[in-house]
Amino acid sequence: MDVNFVKTPEIQQLLDRASGVNESGGNARLKGIMRDLTESVMEVIVKHDISENEFWTAMKFLADGAGEIGLIVPGVGLEHFLDLYMDAKDADAGLTGGTPRTIEGPLYVAGAPLMEGNVNLTSDPDEDAEVLHMTGTITGPDGEVVQDAILHVWHANSKGWYSHFDPTGEQTPFNNRRRIKVGADGRYAFHSKQPSGYSVPPGGATDQLMQGLGRHGHRPAHVHFFVEAPGYRTLTTQINFGDDPFAADDFAFATREGLLPVPTRQGDTAYIAFDFQLQRAQGTREQGFSTRARAEAQAETEVA
Ligand SMILES: [Fe+2]
Repeated sequence: MDVNFVKTPEIQQLLDRASGVNESGGNARLKGIMRDLTESVMEVIVKHDISENEFWTAMKFLADGAGEIGLIVPGVGLEHFLDLYMDAKDADAGLTGGTPRTIEGPLYVAGAPLMEGNVNLTSDPDEDAEVLHMTGTITGPDGEVVQDAILHVWHANSKGWYSHFDPTGEQTPFNNRRRIKVGADGRYAFHSKQPSGYSVPPGGATDQLMQGLGRHGHRPAHVHFFVEAPGYRTLTTQINFGDDPFAADDFAFATREGLLPVPTRQGDTAYIAFDFQLQRAQGTREQGFSTRARAEAQAETEVA
């Protein structure tokens, strides 16, 4: 059997009916996407002669793994693909330059304390962790200092866990999460307890998938950022520590050229200098965040 089986009138009529293309109601864009998506799945089934048992194993994997969808999507390369696709569309539109975007990941929490100056991100002791200092500037495409920028920063603790998502229950809300109100000189500075790289939850859906693919589920130590400022495109990015063993082998494909600073290490302290360059927004929509669903919490106390 070859994939032309999917092109037979019986299957094509099934696709038309299933996607509602001949119905007057519903959403035309959704119908078109559903029809193509279902047809693509059918073609994969025929191409690989997927058995009934294999098909239902896959459905169970998706159902059981729904809680890890935010890890599965980057793990299979789709989140990085979205970045490459947006880059390619930008290049077609003549929009190039600036700090590369890279994946957000699933662990941002809105509502972190808003602070100024040289900001301490870490509220919890995290004993034995090394210290991280990070500094730099935020400029626009012509090198101009960006005014009224807010730098959102979030990273794991030295055990590789994020506050709000830490199964050990050891972290206070918003540990290693801050919004930094950047001064008129465009310079930012923060310090924290240095994050470690981490792995997907052992035995979970992403781990099972990675093992099945003969891959690992490790990420290098990294720090996530959103950079927002009036008149500029909101940038979603992160830096991976250039001296981490997984720096060039990130299971989530977040590593990009230009986002791999190597820390300068002195004793138990690491220093990273990293400048952000934003692109100008073409319209107000580009100044906002994507509408991806994100966790939200209220800072219990505003940290001074
Ligand atoms: Fe992360």
